[in-house]
Amino acid sequence: MSTVALKNVTKIWPDGTYAVDNLDLEVNDGEFMVLLGPSGCGKSTVLRMIAGLEDPTEGDLLLNGEPVLDLPPRERSIAMVFQDFALYPHMTVGENIGFPLKLSGVEPSPRQERVDAIAGALGIGEVLGRRPSQLSGGQRQRVAMGRAIVRRPGLFLMDEPLSNLDSGLRAELRAEISSMTRELGVTTMYVTHDQAEALTMADRVAIMRKGVLQDVGTPTEVYRRPATLYVAAFLGSPRMNLLEASVYVHLDQYIVLNFGDQNLYMPWNDPRSRAVMRYHGERIVVGIRAEALTPVAPDTQGHVLQGRIRYLEHHGHESLAFLDVGATAIVVDEMSNPVHTQPPVEGALKRIGGALQRLTRPGPVEIDPRPTGRVSVLNDPGRHHRKPAELSVRLAPYPAVGPGHPLAISVRMEALHFFDERGDRIDVGWR
Ligand SMILES: Nc1ncnc2c1ncn2[C@@H]1O[C@H](COP(=O)(O)OP(=O)(O)O)[C@@H](O)[C@H]1O
Ligand SMILES: [Mg+2]
Repeated sequence: MSTVALKNVTKIWPDGTYAVDNLDLEVNDGEFMVLLGPSGCGKSTVLRMIAGLEDPTEGDLLLNGEPVLDLPPRERSIAMVFQDFALYPHMTVGENIGFPLKLSGVEPSPRQERVDAIAGALGIGEVLGRRPSQLSGGQRQRVAMGRAIVRRPGLFLMDEPLSNLDSGLRAELRAEISSMTRELGVTTMYVTHDQAEALTMADRVAIMRKGVLQDVGTPTEVYRRPATLYVAAFLGSPRMNLLEASVYVHLDQYIVLNFGDQNLYMPWNDPRSRAVMRYHGERIVVGIRAEALTPVAPDTQGHVLQGRIRYLEHHGHESLAFLDVGATAIVVDEMSNPVHTQPPVEGALKRIGGALQRLTRPGPVEIDPRPTGRVSVLNDPGRHHRKPAELSVRLAPYPAVGPGHPLAISVRMEALHFFDERGDRIDVGWR
């Protein structure tokens, strides 16, 4: 049993790359924590530092509340499974699983008992006498997990253990890993770049980008209230629609969200209007998931966008329509290599004074100035690009409409997400 605490952990490689940048993260006893992010964002480096295979450049690491940076790997009671695990080819499955016990001097009979129990739990009890070459990829992966967990570690670290397997097997093993680690009550840190895997397996997900922790929470929390534009873009399928919008405040009436050709009107009594009104005369990013959009009759009143179908994707149980609504989409370029963020650039933001003057009607409402001086995601080609929006909308399977067909879409306003030009969530408070 273990808790993990990373305190302001930074890892800088000799070439100056910040693999991990000031990471603060706590994992509770028995928790299944998933580290999620694209290739190169520092996930493996985090696990390797916890395992003791790398030293942090700065910061502290505690296991069960005790600092462990001075402890060698074998004294940390940690087991680790990698993507490219190697089994001993000349040993049987049973010998492979039992090997760590043999090394630590466990007698043959209790050793066999433990091996049988673990192999049974992993569904490989029938193949204990075979050699690795006589196994399928999924069976080999189960053996690797069995070997890692047989010594009953306090902490189980798994680094993309399923990424070499085909998708059916991956889904099956996902479920097995979840149930096995929970049954054993072992604290687990699991690394993946697959958002669906993260959302299905995790108690909590920690999302990283270029060495920086973006958000951490239960799958529901990070999906429903992504802390940054990046997290919003990363989680969910189809991806969240991210539209550029100009904000115009009509005091005491509504806030106009202008998407180019069309507007949505946020009612004044919407709890988020106080936060969004501060962007009067400026551009923000509005996030709309497909589940917030419903096709309606063309003449429907209310929060409706008019679009035209560009193309359709059929997924069997549903079809996705991608609509031209005359808006501009913000595309987050997340696959770029990690680069330490540059110092803040001044001047990307307009001053609040100018915005105030453009208020259509003076009123008693106080508008807080916002922090200025950081890089704008709306004006930074290294982090995103713009393109004509293709709004994804769910339709019934094989609908009786096709490309070029007009479609009216009702928008569930309370499900909109708002992000400022830095990519931070615009909100009325932290969850
Ligand atoms: N031993 C190393 N020496 C130098 N740079 C490294 C080393 N290991 C990883 N990196 C770099 O550190 C960054 C994070 O790598 P890694 O933790 O492996 O990412 P992930 O597991 O998320 O794909 C990458 O830029 C990678 O190239
Ligand atoms: Mg990795």
